Amino acid sequence: MAIVYFKGKRRSCLVFEKYLMPFLSWLSFNLWYVLRHPPWDTGISPPELLSFIAQAPPGRALDLGCGTGTNLLTLARAGWQVTGIDFALEAIRRAHQRFAEAGLSADLRAGDVTRLDDLSGPFDLALDIGCYHSLSASSRLDYRRGVQRLLRPGGTWLVYAHLAQGRPPRLGLEESEIAALCQSLCLANRLDSLDRRSRPAAWLTFVNE
Ligand SMILES: C[S@@+](CC[C@H](N)C(=O)[O-])C[C@H]1O[C@@H](n2cnc3c(N)ncnc32)[C@H](O)[C@@H]1O
Repeated sequence: MAIVYFKGKRRSCLVFEKYLMPFLSWLSFNLWYVLRHPPWDTGISPPELLSFIAQAPPGRALDLGCGTGTNLLTLARAGWQVTGIDFALEAIRRAHQRFAEAGLSADLRAGDVTRLDDLSGPFDLALDIGCYHSLSASSRLDYRRGVQRLLRPGGTWLVYAHLAQGRPPRLGLEESEIAALCQSLCLANRLDSLDRRSRPAAWLTFVNE
């Protein structure tokens, strides 16, 4: 009886993580862009990305969870060939509009960052500002497989993520996950900070060795 109960509980956790959580995330991000102006959509690229651009020669960049394309535009203006993917349809529509207005080109895709099979690499930069940390554990695994396939050897995965804090269930990256990432990627730089609501966050620069 206890085993049946335990198995049933484990199955509902898996269903929640694999199906319900991604669906709720898709729904809430799509509604944010349609109903309100999302607070992260400032139209300004962060200094950490600008510093990266200043020291790296232009190449191919992939922005995962690109939103309305602010950082893609910054990269494109600096001579990068850019691809952006986001599952919020309204965000991608606005990104298309902004690129058309700027007279620049980009490969913009309405899609899921955990299903990157349609994309071909290699990319010199995979950028993620605020997307990876919102994924469930199993989605993060699919995402990482995709990014590692697409990133060229020596390519950079530049991530801005919230760090986990407080009691479980905890959102954001655990220190143990960052340590695990370091087993397949080289952590070239880490910059800890607080976000606009004083939550711990970090800029992580991983290099695909
Ligand atoms: C906090 S916002 C940041 C947007 C953008 N990077 C920026 O800095 O303006 C996170 C973005 O990730 C997207 N996102 C979250 N999960 C995703 C998924 N599984 N597939 C594609 N996009 C996703 C959301 O729609 C949202 O646009």
